[in-house]
Amino acid sequence: MSKTTITAALPYANGPVHIGHLAGVYIPADIYARFCRLQGKETLFVCGSDEHGVPITLRARKEGITPQDVVDRYHGIIKDSFERLGIQFDIYSRTSSQTHKETAQEFFKDLLDKGAFREIISEQFFDPEANQFLADRYITGDCPKCNNPGAYGDQCEKCGSTLSPAELKNPKSALSGAVPVLKETKNWYLPLDELQESFLNEYIHSKTSWKSNVLGQCKSWLNDGLKERAMTRDLNWGIPVPVENAEGKVLYVWFEAPIGYISATKEARHNDWQDWWTGDSQLIHFIGKDNIVFHCIIFPAMLHLRGNGYVVPSQVPANEFLNLEGQKISTSRNWAVWLNEYLDELPGREDELRYVLNSIAPETKDSEFTWKDYQTRINSELVGIYGNFANRVLVLMNKYYEGVIPSKAHSFEHSQLAKEYIQPILDKVQQYKFRDAQVALMDLARFGNKYLADHEPWKLIKTDAEKTAEIMQFAYEVLCNLCLASEIFLPNTFKKLQIQLGMEFNDVQKAEFWQKGEWFSPEHGSKIGELSLLFAKMEDDIIENQINKLQASIPAPTAETVAIEEELTIEKPLIQYDDFAKLDLRIATVVNCEKVEKADKLLKLTLSLDTEERTVLSGIAMHFTPEECMGQQVLYLANLSPRKMRGIESHGMILMAEDSNGKLHFVRPSANINAGAGVA
Ligand code: MF3
Ligand code: ZN
Repeated sequence: MSKTTITAALPYANGPVHIGHLAGVYIPADIYARFCRLQGKETLFVCGSDEHGVPITLRARKEGITPQDVVDRYHGIIKDSFERLGIQFDIYSRTSSQTHKETAQEFFKDLLDKGAFREIISEQFFDPEANQFLADRYITGDCPKCNNPGAYGDQCEKCGSTLSPAELKNPKSALSGAVPVLKETKNWYLPLDELQESFLNEYIHSKTSWKSNVLGQCKSWLNDGLKERAMTRDLNWGIPVPVENAEGKVLYVWFEAPIGYISATKEARHNDWQDWWTGDSQLIHFIGKDNIVFHCIIFPAMLHLRGNGYVVPSQVPANEFLNLEGQKISTSRNWAVWLNEYLDELPGREDELRYVLNSIAPETKDSEFTWKDYQTRINSELVGIYGNFANRVLVLMNKYYEGVIPSKAHSFEHSQLAKEYIQPILDKVQQYKFRDAQVALMDLARFGNKYLADHEPWKLIKTDAEKTAEIMQFAYEVLCNLCLASEIFLPNTFKKLQIQLGMEFNDVQKAEFWQKGEWFSPEHGSKIGELSLLFAKMEDDIIENQINKLQASIPAPTAETVAIEEELTIEKPLIQYDDFAKLDLRIATVVNCEKVEKADKLLKLTLSLDTEERTVLSGIAMHFTPEECMGQQVLYLANLSPRKMRGIESHGMILMAEDSNGKLHFVRPSANINAGAGVA
């Protein structure tokens, strides 16, 4: 049988792991790895920390520590929290390891020797004061599209445009504030344009079994035509380029990080590591959608160029994103549920998190986590269905038979049961549909519950002992199968339930179940173990605490929400000019206005800034009709972070004056002027 090499995206060691990472990458990868192992396949599941790259250096600057301090801290936190959640990596390595440095440098050298790179001299931005080249993220300036003064050289976070540093107006170095100058530098580029013709077009088109969200992205990259991309960067945090006179240059993080999968394999399997990357080994990458181009295009191209029998990825089951309580998860805004904190605050609830996150995994489109939904799924599904079934079977078993499994055969057809309840779980996992697989698992629990409800052994015991024994024997059997099937999804529950069943499933039994999809039938006469609660009800106060904690982590209510509460405060502390300068104030024209359903204080305004339109919610409905607002020019705070109210995202706020009678007035220019005009 061929080997299966499973990788999970190496998380950046610039912060802990959150539920979005788990739902999108680590839980599906762990389910799949467990499945392969149980099937008896030779399986290797590798991961580790991604410790290079600009995000790490930015974090270090922000905290005033070294990048090494940052990665040392988060590597430990991430590794430990994965372990506590039961993510069963064969190795959790890190890209700062010596093995990785050597492996990545050797890979680069090999491609260099093969003449695979284009050496290109280009002009890059350079900070003459800090005396170093600047990564795109290190250059800030005014966005050419929306004039946001805090845009980065690669992206404007306000309007979402992808940028290049040369497009920024008034560019400044984030290191010293100096104006960056262009300076020539040599770097090594991967000729993706050529590789598209010689390899990638065919490679991607042969992958008809890949998920459509993955293929869609790949094909759109190919349709646009790939361009050469630099595989080295002028930076000082990373793996040095192993070439003479390349001081101050490191390997591009997206070149070396995926090689981290190979390095981790070396560390885990000193003797036969090559076998996991060559021959008929299956290479499967679990990632999030923002990683698709790197795993489906760039890394395969690198492996292809390396040759030497290296395999290329056979499957890349990438997922979309998970949102949290109506908003994008954001590390910088601290809008997240962090795994390490969850584990500390909700001890013993690991399987509950695995269950819920797999239930809502963003397999085909973005999905959403809310604490209320988490509570409902636990209470109505894990407690109400799974736990309830297990508990009823085991309690009755103790009561009627002192815990000894009655030796009474039942009349169900095992092959039929397997086809109906086991095979669907296997099929769905094989298709990377882990949500559906878990639904199939719960179908088995539902079937068990229904069986008990239909046959009511608690009544029958009074009249027909023989028939009752048959029923209980079968219910116990269903529970054994439910237990076996749980191992890949709910590993702690599997262990607990196995003890309660008085079972210890061996590898052969597991392989028959997971490989052949066979129904398991227990021996008669063995005794069940000590009972304990599988899932406890999730109480309201726990959920409320979590919701409050999350709400407390977002910035204090904005002036707009305060205005909605009609409690405008006037007295404010003195501020510095810099504070004022952060406000992007504009004159905007109201081009549309309507009431918001079920919110009698809110109006939804569409503002024109000439080049673009914005949607703003404003708490002025008690003062103005939509008609009165139409065509008005208003004073508009454009760079207030967006907020969602009543399901509508509000961008910025309009500023109103309040007279002593509490009546609101528009603040507008003395004459109508062009919409979008700045106010300073
Ligand atoms: N650190 C990257 C991210 O979090 C993922 C790197 S995956 C690897 O998006 F293949 F490059 F390692
Ligand atoms: Zn912008």
